[in-house]
Amino acid sequence: MQTLQSFLQEKVQDEQLQSVLVTLSESVKAISERISTAETCKAGTNNEYGEEQMALDILADKLIQEECEKNEQIGLIASEEQPDEIWLGDGDFAVSYDPLDGSSLIDVNLAVGTIFGVYDLKLRSDANQDKSFVGLKGDDLEVSMIAVYGPRTTIVLAIDGEVNEFTLGEDEFYLSKSELKVGEGKMFSPGNLRACSENLKYLDLVTFWIRSEYTLRYSGGMVPDVNQILLKGKGIFSYPPYSKYPDGKLRLIFECAPMAFLMEKAGGAASDGYKRILEKTYEKIDQRTPIYIGSKEEVDRCSKYLI
Ligand code: AHG
Ligand code: MN
Ligand code: MN
Repeated sequence: MQTLQSFLQEKVQDEQLQSVLVTLSESVKAISERISTAETCKAGTNNEYGEEQMALDILADKLIQEECEKNEQIGLIASEEQPDEIWLGDGDFAVSYDPLDGSSLIDVNLAVGTIFGVYDLKLRSDANQDKSFVGLKGDDLEVSMIAVYGPRTTIVLAIDGEVNEFTLGEDEFYLSKSELKVGEGKMFSPGNLRACSENLKYLDLVTFWIRSEYTLRYSGGMVPDVNQILLKGKGIFSYPPYSKYPDGKLRLIFECAPMAFLMEKAGGAASDGYKRILEKTYEKIDQRTPIYIGSKEEVDRCSKYLI
């Protein structure tokens, strides 16, 4: 069985990038350990988006930041749980993260996840300008990675044009599924169904999926839901806007762009209904977007029904 470390040594020429990915996988190990032992209570605080934070949201955020601070290759970080991006030093790599996606599912013991986006700022033509995520876009991603904390702890990593799954053993990640590919198939994860109350086009789309006998697979966490599409090799996850979230709920930098990068590298697609998620330039750290992500035909169908 191949370890993540030996996989990275084989596939990633850039030793600095290798070390960044090892750092992120170490933070996943630490979070995995704490999820199974720490309190699942609320923190009594709200994040930048006015969402109630769980104690584990804050702990996971702290664990990742601490790991990133130890690696001098990482010069810039931004977290969904913090209002501003943070400059760490001269390192060329920038890392965005949603420390714990689906954290409201923790107290009922459903799967949750972490989402990372890794950018190599030295590859940008304007590399000497101020370091910031603002001005970048998903197409600038070098690597994206999700971790799923379920019955097993897994990582799905898009690097070097390939998407692979690794599973945490005693103390190491091992390659568990190679070269994930997303094709077509009847499985749907329809997020924000409350939008059907005011958007009859979304109601029509969901009705199409139901009448066509698609299998419903929806957990309430974007990471486990999209991870399922990647692993089953088919399906669609949707999260349209509605009056409470006119730009959608999910965050472009922390959630949608890294997920879109994984999906495209696996042969699927991701769109906001008008354009590829990866083409959307980051205008602000807390930018949100609608998202339709999964099998290509399904993503096209979303645009056709909704726009
Ligand atoms: P987070 O826990 O990082 O705030 O993200 C939760 C997200 C996403 O994982 C999920 O798909 C979506 O919120 C579900 O939201 P609603 O249940 O409000 O529709
Ligand atoms: Mn999230
Ligand atoms: Mn989160």
